[in-house]
Amino acid sequence: MSDIKRLLVEKLERIHKVRNAFWAYAGRLIKEKLNPVHRAHYAIWVYYWPLWRSIFSGRKILRHWKRFDLVQEGQTFLDYGCGTGWFTIAAANRVGTKGKVYALDCCSRYLKVVEKSSAKKALSNIEVILSDRETGLPDECVDVAWMCDVLHELHEKRAVLDEVHRVLKKGGILAIHDGMMDGVLRYTEDLLSLNGKDGKLLRLVKSNQT
Ligand SMILES: C[S@@+](CC[C@H](N)C(=O)[O-])C[C@H]1O[C@@H](n2cnc3c(N)ncnc32)[C@H](O)[C@@H]1O
Repeated sequence: MSDIKRLLVEKLERIHKVRNAFWAYAGRLIKEKLNPVHRAHYAIWVYYWPLWRSIFSGRKILRHWKRFDLVQEGQTFLDYGCGTGWFTIAAANRVGTKGKVYALDCCSRYLKVVEKSSAKKALSNIEVILSDRETGLPDECVDVAWMCDVLHELHEKRAVLDEVHRVLKKGGILAIHDGMMDGVLRYTEDLLSLNGKDGKLLRLVKSNQT
């Protein structure tokens, strides 16, 4: 290996180490120090987040779905960390009556909102799941798993990704929209392969062999 190449590799390894240390620190900070603030935020989140999604960020993210042709009629869709279900409803409309949407969240309060809005819109293809990791779904039954602004919050990122990987069909897609951006790949690299990227959205595919 040439000197320049070796220097470059060393530099990249150092950057990688610093980045890992930063995320480990940020994770600890959120978990240990900011937890009461975090909880208070979620207590009122149920009121302002749906508004935020419908007025600001939601439509933009749905345009990414369209660009990636992410959700199609008849598919089974898992909205992991669905919150109050803005994307759950959008997915349910897209997959139609032949498809199915599982909306999973660890907070029952949000799931009640999801149930209310699906009843209001007469959508019968949504099922809510209260969990912070296990989906309770059989192996390889999901075409598309969606995690929007969830991964950075998970304390057990890899364990959740293992579970999502288990329920994904071979060739199934895990789409992650997260501020961690490429940092996501540290948790998925030996599990799923990246096959598309647009801003904060990563499109990962489960190999046909695994
Ligand atoms: C920022 S919100 C995003 C909600 C929704 N995906 C959206 O984009 O509108 C993050 C959600 O992840 C959920 N969450 C956090 N940790 C979780 C876990 N371990 N398992 C399931 N859901 C979790 C929270 O309850 C919250 O609803």
